[in-house]
Amino acid sequence: MIAMRLWRMSLILLYGGFCAHAVTSQEDPPYVKSEVTYNKDVAPILHKHCTSCHRPNDIAPMSLTTYEEVLPFARMIRENVVQRKMPPWHADPVFGEFINDARLKDEEIAIIDAWVKNGAKRGGAPASSSDSAPFPALAPASGWHIKPDVVFAIPEFLVSKTAEDDYEYIYVPTNFREDKWIQAAEVLPGDRRVVHHATVSVVGQSEVAKHLERHGKANEGEDQYHYRTGKVLHLRPEAPVIDDGCAAPDGGGVPGTSSGYLNIVPAIYLPGHLAETRPPGYALRIPAGGYLQFQIHYSNHHGLDVKDRTSIGLVFARESVQHEIGQYEIWNNMFLIPANDDNHRVTSCYTLPKDVIAVAYTAHMHFRGKNMLTKAIYPDGHEEVLLYVPHYDFRWQETYFLKKQFLLPKGTKLMTVAYFDNSKNNFQNPDPSKSVRWGEPSDEEMMGFWLQFADPAVVSAQSSSTQK
Ligand code: HEC
Repeated sequence: MIAMRLWRMSLILLYGGFCAHAVTSQEDPPYVKSEVTYNKDVAPILHKHCTSCHRPNDIAPMSLTTYEEVLPFARMIRENVVQRKMPPWHADPVFGEFINDARLKDEEIAIIDAWVKNGAKRGGAPASSSDSAPFPALAPASGWHIKPDVVFAIPEFLVSKTAEDDYEYIYVPTNFREDKWIQAAEVLPGDRRVVHHATVSVVGQSEVAKHLERHGKANEGEDQYHYRTGKVLHLRPEAPVIDDGCAAPDGGGVPGTSSGYLNIVPAIYLPGHLAETRPPGYALRIPAGGYLQFQIHYSNHHGLDVKDRTSIGLVFARESVQHEIGQYEIWNNMFLIPANDDNHRVTSCYTLPKDVIAVAYTAHMHFRGKNMLTKAIYPDGHEEVLLYVPHYDFRWQETYFLKKQFLLPKGTKLMTVAYFDNSKNNFQNPDPSKSVRWGEPSDEEMMGFWLQFADPAVVSAQSSSTQK
C-alpha cells in the first residue's frame, strides 16, 4: 500500500516535469532508474573523475565536458567504466590504500550503466545553475592539473624531424635564494607530439658543470656493459644475464653497483602520468641555487621540425614540513627476455640502508611489461606485499601515494618480481622475434620499482642542526 502510494507520487512528480531524486532505497520501482540523467547524476561523476584528462588539449583523445560532447561516446563510456578500464588505475586494491585511488565506486558505475541503458537523457538543469548552463563550465584548460606558484621552462628546443630517439639533458637554474619546499609538481610537455617522456631532477649548483661535461661527451655512459647509438644507451648483448637479481650479489644492478639508486625527482611526464602531489607535511627540498635537470626523451615521427618548450610547475608547501622526500629507484638492469617468451620472470632486490617512511610507489617497465609485485621482507622475517600491478600497461605510468605512510626499518629487503610478455599475444609488443635487454628506447626494456620515501627525522630539528 505504501509502495503504491509512493509510486503514484513519483508519477505525479514526473508529470510535473521534476527530476526524480536519486534512488537509494532497494524497494524503489525500477522505472525510477530511467530518470537518471546527465545533468543530475552523470555530469558530477564525469567532472570528478574524467575531465581532468578528457578536456581540450589534454592527454585523452576526446573531451567529455558537456552533454553534447559526452552523448556520442555514451556506450563506449559505459563499456569502459563497467570493465573498469576508465579511469585508469592499475594497482590491485587488495594491497595498500592510496590517496589518489582513481577507481569509481560501485554506485557510480551503476549510475552510468543505468543512464546509458535508459537512453542517456540530458535531464533538466540541476537546481544550482541556470538553464543556459546545465552544468558549471570548467575553467578554460591551462594544461596544468595543479595551480603552480612558479613555472620553469626550458629554452625553446628544436626537435629536428630526424630526432626519432633522442635523450636531451637541459639545465634550468631556479635562482632560489633559500631552500624551497615543494608540495606538488607537474611536468607539462611543450609539444605532446614529440615529448615521449620527461623527467625533472634536482641538481645542486656546484654539480651542474660536472653534469654538463659528462652529457657533452659523445660516448657518455659507454663502458664494458653499455653502448650508445646516437643519444640513447643500451646494454651490450654479451653482458652477463641476471634474471633473478635476488640471487645475485648486486640484487640485479649492473655488476659492482647496487640495484638501488637515490634520485631526487620533483616530477616526471610519462604517458598517463599527471601531477604528483605529496601528502601534507611531506615535501621535497630544492636547495638554494639549485638547478632543474630536464631529461627529455624526444621522439619525432612527424616528418617536420618541431619546437618544444617543456616546463615544470611547482607548488610550494603551505603547511609546516615535517619530512623530506627522496626516492629510491630499484632496478634489474641485466635481464634477458627471450624471443616469443610469454611469461618471463625477472627479480630485483634491494636492502634499505637506513630507516625510511614509505610514501609512494611506481612500477616501471616498457611495452613487454605484464605484471609486477613488490614486497617488503622485514628484518624480523615477516613479509608484506606493498604493491601489485596485475595488468601492467606501458601507456599508464601511475605513482601510487599511500593513504597511511609507515616505517620501513633499515635492513628491510624490497623484493620485486616482474613478468614480461614478449609473445605476439601482447598487442603492444613491437617485435616478438627479438630477445630483449635493458635499453633507453621504449622498444627495449626496463624493470624498475621506485619508492618515494621520507626521512623519519623531523625537518625543523634537522635543518636547525645542519645550520650549526
Ligand atoms: C588520467 C587521465 C584519464 C582519466 C582520469 C580518464 N581518462 Fe579516459 N582516456 C584517457 C586516455 C589517455 C585515453 C586514450 C588511451 C586509451 O584508450 O587507453 C582514454 C580513453 C577513453 C575512452 C576511449 C576508449 C577506447 O576504446 O577508445 C573512453 C570511453 C574513456 N576514456 C572514458 C573515460 C571516462 C568515462 C572516465 C571517467 C570515469 C575517464 N575516461 C577518465 C585518459 C583518462
